Amino acid sequence: MVIEIAGTGRAIPPERISNQDLAEQIDTSDEWIRSHTGIEARHIAPPHVSTSDLAVEAAWESLKFAVARAEVEEPGPEELARTLDLIVVGSTTQDYYGCPSTACLVQHRLGAQKAAAMDITAACSSFIYCLETAAALILADRRRKRALVIGAETLSRVANWNDRGTCVLFGDGAGAVLLEKRDYPEENSGGAGPGRSRGLLRTILGADGSGWEHLIIRRGGSREPWKSGETVDIPPHVEMNGHAVYNFAVKVITETMAQLMEEESLAIQDIARIVPHQANARIIQAAGKRLKIPEEKFYLNMGEYANTSAASIPIALDELNRSGQVQKGDLIITVGFGGGLTYGGNLIRW
Ligand code: UT7
Repeated sequence: MVIEIAGTGRAIPPERISNQDLAEQIDTSDEWIRSHTGIEARHIAPPHVSTSDLAVEAAWESLKFAVARAEVEEPGPEELARTLDLIVVGSTTQDYYGCPSTACLVQHRLGAQKAAAMDITAACSSFIYCLETAAALILADRRRKRALVIGAETLSRVANWNDRGTCVLFGDGAGAVLLEKRDYPEENSGGAGPGRSRGLLRTILGADGSGWEHLIIRRGGSREPWKSGETVDIPPHVEMNGHAVYNFAVKVITETMAQLMEEESLAIQDIARIVPHQANARIIQAAGKRLKIPEEKFYLNMGEYANTSAASIPIALDELNRSGQVQKGDLIITVGFGGGLTYGGNLIRW
């Protein structure tokens, strides 16, 4: 049994805010943002659009894609949605605090009546965690076959627009992948070497909770709840120790890529594309340099979308898939890091 990606989709809010637009409002510059991060613009959801709205749009796109490419037998996306066994949403900016999960809102809007639904919070590593969780759950029961895995964020709602050190980094968006369990009796389901098994082959997940304070939305939880009568000067917002996250990121993504390739006996030439979490081009260049990976192996789109946290990897996968830049049989590595601190990587044969 293998777990394959049968469809991908994305949702990007139309409003595009360039670095120059931001520089007209806060003390920053296009030059600083570009040279320190590789970011040129970000897309921001209008006030009436929430994380679940973006998640639902990306989900429909992934289902339509699977139908259009005849990856499934169902005649339309609605019929396909009704067959889903599981919906997992990765997000740091869920529609509601704690309850209900964003995944339940998505399940309702898709009409996916038989799907179990849950959110996973591993900050920017969420999609990598979600993919492994969803794959494991559909493999665990022979009656389960299909899962929708979504990364969706409205980070503009938790950015502190007066803090130039963080607000310039983030954007809104969502990406989705449809996972399907398939049986290829002729294929060997162990190992990732050329010509061997397909789909999601291997995942590394990790965390270093000692860095919990380096990337944090401090107020509103059980540790520091809002108190009645309290005046809210700034809504819940991201605080970040940029240097600590940067150093952690370079270290863990280097180690994760190296471990995936070493343990699966892969050379860099075997990998078609590496899809990193799109936080900062300098982080990726630094890790690439350490492992002597040519820059063009990495797919980067933070220039257009900035850091969309849980959504960044599935958005990138959808762009690669729709533009034909990945082909069936290609080996792909995803790799990411984020608040928690968390990290991880997936090895996928497309
Ligand atoms: O998904 C995980 C999300 N987090 C990350 O990926 C963050 C990882 N960290 C980083 O990407 C980098 O640390 C940053 C991009 C956040 C910052 O880059 P840096 O090269 O580490 O800059 P810095 O914080 O050392 O700041 C250098 C200077 C400071 O000025 P002084 O003190 O040298 O005068 C900052 O005040 O740049 C200033 N600065 C800015 N200037 C213009 C910080 N932000 C800005 C800004 N525009 N937006």
